[in-house]
Amino acid sequence: MVFNSSIHYLNGDLYIDAISVDEVANQVGTPTYVYSLKRVLENYNRLKTAFAQLDTHIHYSAKANSNLAILKSLSEAGAGVDTVSMGEIYRAIQACVDPQHIVFAGVGKTRQEIDYAIQQDIGWFNVENVLELDYIQASAKAQNVEAVNVALRLNPQVTANTHPYISTGHGGAKFGLTAEVIEGILEKQAKYPNIKFAGIHLHIGSQLGDKDATIQAVEKAVALIQPYPQIRTINMGGGIPVPYHFDEETPSIESFAQSLVPLLKDYAVLLEPGRSIVADAGILITEVQYVKQQAGQTFYITDGSMAELIRPSLYQAHHEIVPVKKSDGDLTVNIVGPVCETADVLAKDRVLPEMNVGDKVVVMTAGAYGMVMASNYNARLRPAEVVVSADGESWSVARKRETLEDLLRHEMH
Ligand code: LLP
Repeated sequence: MVFNSSIHYLNGDLYIDAISVDEVANQVGTPTYVYSLKRVLENYNRLKTAFAQLDTHIHYSAKANSNLAILKSLSEAGAGVDTVSMGEIYRAIQACVDPQHIVFAGVGKTRQEIDYAIQQDIGWFNVENVLELDYIQASAKAQNVEAVNVALRLNPQVTANTHPYISTGHGGAKFGLTAEVIEGILEKQAKYPNIKFAGIHLHIGSQLGDKDATIQAVEKAVALIQPYPQIRTINMGGGIPVPYHFDEETPSIESFAQSLVPLLKDYAVLLEPGRSIVADAGILITEVQYVKQQAGQTFYITDGSMAELIRPSLYQAHHEIVPVKKSDGDLTVNIVGPVCETADVLAKDRVLPEMNVGDKVVVMTAGAYGMVMASNYNARLRPAEVVVSADGESWSVARKRETLEDLLRHEMH
């Protein structure tokens, strides 16, 4: 399902909780992202409940959507944050996340980022490189930090069932360390007196089509750490899928939990979900600027484009498109943006009502990897972000639409 308890029609008008999408669009303009905090928290709580039998802590993956309002409400609900840059650590801290509940991951952390993370006293480093360990050791020593918690990231050499761009656990990927390298590191722990090797980390991909590769990867990780009793934490990464098509069935959070709980029962477990928490809590509202008939096709040209939501262009990702107001007449159309790229297509061959200039359409399931991947390409202004409060009754602008002045802010001439 793509509609849910928060995003639904009421008498032919699209609502996000108790808020009319049309009203938000009329007040804030388009394109605009809108997120339901209620749905975000519902997804978070569902995950927590599914893994409740284990000693679990959820670190929400900020790369999916790092809007401060979302980080704050998840942090208030008890989540930590999974980060991959100094910028994400900074955002998490600004959102009042306890630094001890911040994980810093990433295949290419810079020296500056490592120094910053240690200075901020974050909870964990997920490490993917032997040289990175040398630098963490040096930085910890220089900053007089006795023990930095490290989880070594295993590349389990399993191929996830997902889009190749977001599959990370196969041998040829740049991610993680092989089992042999991890064993080598653990045998030489004395080289790193300021590092505590307390965990193992995995993340085999995003939008995982089934649980099999995850189970295999966890089995490999458990076997690998068996001889090292000080490693009590397994960080499972993210990857739980969400449906993007109306009729799509994806393995549920609960089914992932059911398969994994028996394997993980003797460990503390960290999870790094991003998409499964925010994707279906967000929409992108756009307005039809033109209707064009050409080469036997109908194009709805909207003010939303690949600059605001790149997923369809980059991964050929499918997002359902729905009208803000239901109306009659069925037409097969392409929904495209104004950007000067043939790839700037939000959706192809979709059946939508006959629409006119000024009508609004919504891109569904846009809460994850939407705004965070938005750019200023074609000198477009990045869109506004609106949040609907956790009780579902009120809304506010969480990030203003960019202005022309914003475009020039960092230019010197
Ligand atoms: N942990 C690690 C180490 C990751 O690399 C990722 C995502 C996550 C957690 C969160 O995964 P999730 O629960 O969201 O699947 N831009 C792409 C997705 C890239 C995912 C990158 N890593 C997309 O739009 O589909």
